[in-house]
Amino acid sequence: MANSRVSLLLLTLLALTLSLSASSPSSHNREELETPITRFQQYLRFKTAHPNPNYTAPVSFLTALAKSIGLVTQSIEFTPNKPVLLVTWPGSKPSLPSILFNSHLDSVPAEPTKWLHPPFSAVHTPDGKIFARGAQDDKCIAIQYLEAIRNLKSKNFIPTRTIHISYVPDEEIGGFDGAAKFVNSKEFRHLNVGFALDEGQASVNDEFRVFFADRSPWNLIIRAKGKPGHGSRMYDDGAMENLMKSIEIISRFRESQFDVVKAGKAANSEVISVNPVYLKAGIPSPTGFVMNMQPSEAEAGFDLRLPPTADPDLMKKRIAEEWVPAIRNMTYEIIEKGPLRDHMGRPLMTAVDDSNPWWGVFRQAIAAAGGKLAKPEILLSTTDARFIRQLGIPVFGFSPMTNTPILLHDHNEFLEDTVFLKGIEVYEHIISSLSSFEEVHST
Ligand SMILES: *[C@@H]1O[C@H](CO)[C@@H](O)[C@H](O)[C@H]1NC(C)=O
Ligand SMILES: *[C@@H]1O[C@H](CO)[C@@H](O)[C@H](O)[C@H]1NC(C)=O
Ligand SMILES: [Zn+2]
Repeated sequence: MANSRVSLLLLTLLALTLSLSASSPSSHNREELETPITRFQQYLRFKTAHPNPNYTAPVSFLTALAKSIGLVTQSIEFTPNKPVLLVTWPGSKPSLPSILFNSHLDSVPAEPTKWLHPPFSAVHTPDGKIFARGAQDDKCIAIQYLEAIRNLKSKNFIPTRTIHISYVPDEEIGGFDGAAKFVNSKEFRHLNVGFALDEGQASVNDEFRVFFADRSPWNLIIRAKGKPGHGSRMYDDGAMENLMKSIEIISRFRESQFDVVKAGKAANSEVISVNPVYLKAGIPSPTGFVMNMQPSEAEAGFDLRLPPTADPDLMKKRIAEEWVPAIRNMTYEIIEKGPLRDHMGRPLMTAVDDSNPWWGVFRQAIAAAGGKLAKPEILLSTTDARFIRQLGIPVFGFSPMTNTPILLHDHNEFLEDTVFLKGIEVYEHIISSLSSFEEVHST
């Protein structure tokens, strides 16, 4: 009896020892297995696509990640259920203007059937590609900012200027409930931002791209009214005829801008683009449209993009007098999707010459990271950077992705692991250079 009890105790102890020795290496392994790549994959798996982006889960994840690195976090809601997460690494001279790194939390939708791998699976293929919606736009920089700070901290680097990272909602639907409200808040003013970096785009060659301005989108809707009549008659003043005249004139303007691009005199992003996006007319019938009637109303929509060098008043005059003249019984509506001028009335662009000391610091940091920088560009599309620039704060658009196909908003968006890891190194140089730069005291 006593013997068997002792052997039972021994057996229990043995089992316990075995289970302990079995469990401790496995939890140890789990920690070892967590790398910048796996943290990137975890972040890519949050379903942040519109129209129902989940902001709660990625914000909790980023908060935990930032805290594990020893950073200060604060979540602010300017719109219910649309949080802005602010991460801070205090500098040794907090009175100096700070440096802000911005990234948006949301993504555009994806059509899973058109993808090689499910868009929110973050599959890492044997040849090194990480597939996910958001891999390039812009979840890479969200994690790279934090990983770069983790590495700098482990090297005992101490920033002079305070570093902030902002994670904002809704960029992909205009940023009006995200960055727009954030930059106009007392919380933002309190950050005393002197310079900011926001997302950029991939580069197909070995030069990093940097963007000093965005184009500003206008939605133009034109409506024509006119005499209805039999489909067989040719007469003046029909709605379709009036609309078609406008479309011809707008097409000629489009061609004149595109010709400049085709002649190599300007980049696509340096001209005013105008593209028809919808046409609405006709009298519906059970089988389609009534074919022998000319309708009394017709409408068309255009996507316009204005570079900061364009004169918005001149453009409005052109639309009113040439594109949609009231004498042709037409009306129009322009919906401006953001500012074209800063608070001082200056074109919304950041200087890329010696007048902007941050330009030199940024350029040197890229060189120190062993990188080459392409000629600075205007971004073809639009980012949250425009809201920060509107305050007169210099901002560059930059995402460190070289030798990478441009796949933002496309099927099979991916980023190569080596490109992602190199980006962390690039941000280490950028963060240390910018935060150590003491010459600019105010902007
Ligand atoms: C967001 O995602 C998390 C986990 O990824 C889930 O638990 C939560 O229910 C989601 N929230 C909403 C509102 O869908
Ligand atoms: C505009 O409408 C008026 C009133 O219907 C008509 O008399 C005139 O001819 C129209 N003009 C054009 C250019 O369609
Ligand atoms: Zn983006």
